[in-house]
Amino acid sequence: MSEQLIYELSVPGRSGTRPPKLDVPLTALPTELLRDKLPLPEVSEIDLVRHYLRLSQLNYSLDHGMYPLGSCTMKYNPKVNEAAASLPGFTGLHPRQDEATVQGALYIMYQLQEQLKEIGGFAGMTLQPAAGAHGELTGVLIMRKYQLDRGEMQRDTILVPDSAHGTNPASTHMSGLRVVEIPSDERGNVDLAALKSQLSDRVVGLMLTNPNTLGLFDENLLEIIELVHECGGLVYGDGANMNALLGIMRPGDAGIDVMHFNLHKTFSTPHGGGGPGSGPVGVAEQLVEFLPGPVVRQAISVEDEFPYYTLHTPTQSIGPVKSFWGHFGVIVRAYTYIRMLGAEGLRRTAEHAVLNANYLLRRIEGVYHVPYNRLCQHEFVVEGHFEDAPEVHALDIAKRLIDYGVHPPTNYFPLIVHEALMIEPTETESKQSVDHYAELLLKIAVEARETPELLQEAPHNAPVRRMDEIRAARQPILRYVPVDSR
Ligand SMILES: Cc1ncc(COP(=O)(O)O)c(C=O)c1O
Repeated sequence: MSEQLIYELSVPGRSGTRPPKLDVPLTALPTELLRDKLPLPEVSEIDLVRHYLRLSQLNYSLDHGMYPLGSCTMKYNPKVNEAAASLPGFTGLHPRQDEATVQGALYIMYQLQEQLKEIGGFAGMTLQPAAGAHGELTGVLIMRKYQLDRGEMQRDTILVPDSAHGTNPASTHMSGLRVVEIPSDERGNVDLAALKSQLSDRVVGLMLTNPNTLGLFDENLLEIIELVHECGGLVYGDGANMNALLGIMRPGDAGIDVMHFNLHKTFSTPHGGGGPGSGPVGVAEQLVEFLPGPVVRQAISVEDEFPYYTLHTPTQSIGPVKSFWGHFGVIVRAYTYIRMLGAEGLRRTAEHAVLNANYLLRRIEGVYHVPYNRLCQHEFVVEGHFEDAPEVHALDIAKRLIDYGVHPPTNYFPLIVHEALMIEPTETESKQSVDHYAELLLKIAVEARETPELLQEAPHNAPVRRMDEIRAARQPILRYVPVDSR
């Protein structure tokens, strides 16, 4: 019974709904829209409740336990954010409503624009992009248009360090520009000699993930920015990892010209949970008029001197990058999060994110090889491989963690680390849960030597064992098919 899916529980005539009494005139349905057969499961209310509860129990979530998925920042999402985003005054809005009737929503958007400008050190901000990668594409298009408008037609290249997030070269490619990869040096910084050798008047700019995907802050940041500016290029900062820097360092002050935030990493909203994200882009003064429109502006109404909010399209705008005003629900969550923490709280967020990562790193170093071993930011990368247990791989360690009831780290990313395990404990985990995770990693390192098959066959008690990932990607089953006809 418990293994049966909702369709298999179906019994003709059984129903779990009781429609309300008819309170409108009875009208015939347009028959051309009706199907003869609509094979929906016929189940009682209790069958339905049990079905969904069972499904939810097959899932692992941050509300179950630690989820240190490096680069994906699965940190606790305070429930008050959800309460704010679900307020009927927000959920009932229509994007075509007149400006005068949505002043509350525009106020929130304006305030968030201003807060993000202040946090990042930027002169302008758009909330339109739908995710981090979309913010990157928006930023590159802004950089490109700025240079085209200055007559610099020959610029066609974006430099991307090999420690950048994978979306950086992808966004560059989508914008029609050429990607040139810059290697890292032995400390995990951008290799300065390699960078210098690529600087020319063909360079649109550099895209710098900082902290990078090794979890490291580039020690030569100011020099890198200066070098790129000297050749007439702009510097794009991938700010998805801002939870390491909040209240401590403002990328705009360092000379970064354009940067996207991942609201769904830095300012709560679960990342990678299947829901929408938001990738606002901040720009320096000379790029403000190139932002996608509309942006929200504050005006003082003449009659009563109350602030009034209007929508405005910048004069040299690259045009809208998203229908209407972006993902408003995520904007409300980020606004709530920032207002709840305040400036002091945001800084503490970053301090705790960095502290937790360094603490966990120090607890497992020596047992796990750390290829770039220096002070890390909010995440770090170790090798999931032991010389004296060569048959055990990063994937086996990741799968074994599932047996112990926690979520594995990101594995095999970044590509520049052999057998990478990328771990981001996040600021919302306590010392006890970070210690627990460290102990599991240390225990698994012992198992790798003593009982490697335990790791190679893991997970042992998860609802799904090792998946054939290639088959899952090539032949996905996207709708219900009875088990015996698969
Ligand atoms: C450093 C970095 N840049 C860019 C992105 C892309 O963000 P998104 O997944 O919202 O497109 C991510 C995603 O986690 C990231 O970690």
